[in-house]
Amino acid sequence: MQSYNPVAKWFHWITVALMAVALPVGFVIQHITEAQEGATKMVFYAIHESAGVTLFLVVLLRLLWRLSHKAPPLPASIPAPLRLAANTVHHALYALLLVQPLLGFFATNAWGFPLQGQTAYLGFIELPKFMDANEDLAGQLQALHTIGGWTILVLLVLHIGGVVFHQAVRRDGLLLRMV
Ligand code: HEM
Repeated sequence: MQSYNPVAKWFHWITVALMAVALPVGFVIQHITEAQEGATKMVFYAIHESAGVTLFLVVLLRLLWRLSHKAPPLPASIPAPLRLAANTVHHALYALLLVQPLLGFFATNAWGFPLQGQTAYLGFIELPKFMDANEDLAGQLQALHTIGGWTILVLLVLHIGGVVFHQAVRRDGLLLRMV
């Protein structure tokens, strides 16, 4: 069975590592209570937002690289419905991993908290402010960001479920293509 190129594997596992930070931290922030607010909450925002922006850059590079490097073909034994399901989940994940950070980024701008000062990108890179505070727009972008977060979670369950299905039920060792 043909494996992915080493560069594709690096892109994949760096994406996993960044998602493992951005997604749980995003869900946790709202549960930081009033008593803990201030410095702690800002650290969570800084980590979440820096991981999210980095994820956006990594996925952008990954897709650009992918334009000139095709994925290795799936083994002929994989039935058409499974191929379709895998492709659909992969495309949806790529699309959302680009859209989700943009929604978060513009929501922070609209809330009046651009990535500057305590939430500068990676702690020291001040990103430009794109708009003045606008609470209505911020609320709408934030609502879409919440829907995006839950949708990504569902897609990840399907994606990892697919891997488990291939390993445990079909026993075709498909996971080895990406490790
Ligand atoms: C792929 C990258 C990202 C993922 C998967 C992600 C995911 C999430 C999730 C799941 C939540 C919780 C939503 C909720 O339950 O209401 C959240 C909240 C949030 N995210 Fe992101 N996010 C990403 C990128 C970003 C970026 C790049 C920014 C800003 C630059 C950002 C800013 C925020 C803000 C401000 C919140 C609200 C936290 C709060 O006060 O409760 N996110 N994100």
